[in-house]
Amino acid sequence: MRVFLNGELVEREQALVPVDDRGFLFGDGVYEVVRAVDGSLYEAERHWRRLARSLDGTEITPPAGLDAAALDALAQQLLDENGLAAGDALVYLQITRGAAPRTHHFPPATTRPTVFASAGPFSPPHALRARGASAITHPDLRWARCDLKTVNLLPNVLAKQHAVAAGADEAVLVRDGMVTEGSSTNVFAVIAGELRTHPASNHILPGVTRDVVIELAGQLGVPVRELPVPVEELREATELFLTSTTNDVMPVVRVDGRPVGSGEPGPVAGRLYAALAERMPARTAV
Ligand code: PDD
Repeated sequence: MRVFLNGELVEREQALVPVDDRGFLFGDGVYEVVRAVDGSLYEAERHWRRLARSLDGTEITPPAGLDAAALDALAQQLLDENGLAAGDALVYLQITRGAAPRTHHFPPATTRPTVFASAGPFSPPHALRARGASAITHPDLRWARCDLKTVNLLPNVLAKQHAVAAGADEAVLVRDGMVTEGSSTNVFAVIAGELRTHPASNHILPGVTRDVVIELAGQLGVPVRELPVPVEELREATELFLTSTTNDVMPVVRVDGRPVGSGEPGPVAGRLYAALAERMPARTAV
């Protein structure tokens, strides 16, 4: 596979970052994950907008000229170079504050940010979607700027590992008694016929899939309320589902070992997944 590092396309094994890189030393960087289907990027514009917001929020100045059009071209080049013009793929992009002698404060303004991007094949989790995922609830131990997509993912890593160790697929994070989001997903519940999800505050990542699903719910006539769900209310949910670039819409049928609703993937998640899949090139829908 050929990847992009600081302006060059190189073999993956040759893509090396100095140990002084602030991404390595401090987790001082931001990232995006974008889906591609049959060589077409999905919702790229929204991902690049969120990237610009993450860069702004972390005060990282990207290299000149790295605008949405340049990012589209870069992602397209990686898909073409790596034989990903057909099938499902993921494009990963990371920008750190660059490599410089270790100081907690910002390095000299002349420090070049590190830009890394790669593309690889992806298998949508259709089998899991058909049977439904399981989740555990887990304390949300993250900082107060979860709206920025930074590579500081240690609390997410630990929560996800605790889910996996418990035989579950995702950790549903709980802050002050309220469900925020998953370790790498947004969370929706159907309660009293209404779709509920945490509002887009500093406590969640504003997921691209979340936004699209809220729009689609509106079109399908499903009432949506962006209001946090108290963790106890999960027991009353008739459905629970996750959204993300890598999951699309993923029904959750068990939480902490208890069935959600009927214990089977539910109709609201099913309709929203179908509507989402319809917006993608047809081949990916199952
Ligand atoms: N994760 N919340 C968190 C904490 C996430 O990390 C993600 C995405 C989402 C969903 O966002 P979107 O719909 O834009 O993918 C919500 C990516 C896929 C990842 O870290 O791999």
